[in-house]
Amino acid sequence: MAYKLLFVCLGNICRSPSAENIMNYLIQERGLEGKIICDSAGTSSYHIGASPDRRMQAAAGRRGIKLVGQARQFDLSDFETFDLILAMDRSNYRDILQLDPDNLYKEKVRLMCDFATQHRDREVPDPYYGGEAGFDHVINLLLDACDGLLEEFLK
Ligand code: 4NP
Repeated sequence: MAYKLLFVCLGNICRSPSAENIMNYLIQERGLEGKIICDSAGTSSYHIGASPDRRMQAAAGRRGIKLVGQARQFDLSDFETFDLILAMDRSNYRDILQLDPDNLYKEKVRLMCDFATQHRDREVPDPYYGGEAGFDHVINLLLDACDGLLEEFLK
């Protein structure tokens, strides 16, 4: 059975689709296809059906990574479906845990930055209202955290 990862942010058009596509890129690079399955979702319904943000696509493209997918909202069934749920920031983390009032799935929910080894950031910052540098930072941070997460998986 494949290990299932779900990346979660607010809109599912910037950070979490980047995390999903970066992880798929690393999985392919390391020949781990089929062992780990990735998906992403937003806590909000703001952008359901939308493609990844163009500025995010451009930043990922600068690192040779193509972003594919359409935004969807986090669903309660995701708690059962996925083995690990990775929140991009503390607000996403809180919003996810609020949907699990009995703390049945708390152990499955983690902050993405807990897996970064090269960056000191504790959260993946929301780049939506900022400039190009913010999008590039998100990609660099996610490359680091995805790599760290993969290393944990391979232990
Ligand atoms: P994301 O970024 O959560 O990384 O997808 C955002 C996308 C949209 C909005 C905020 C953050 N928004 O307010 O519409």
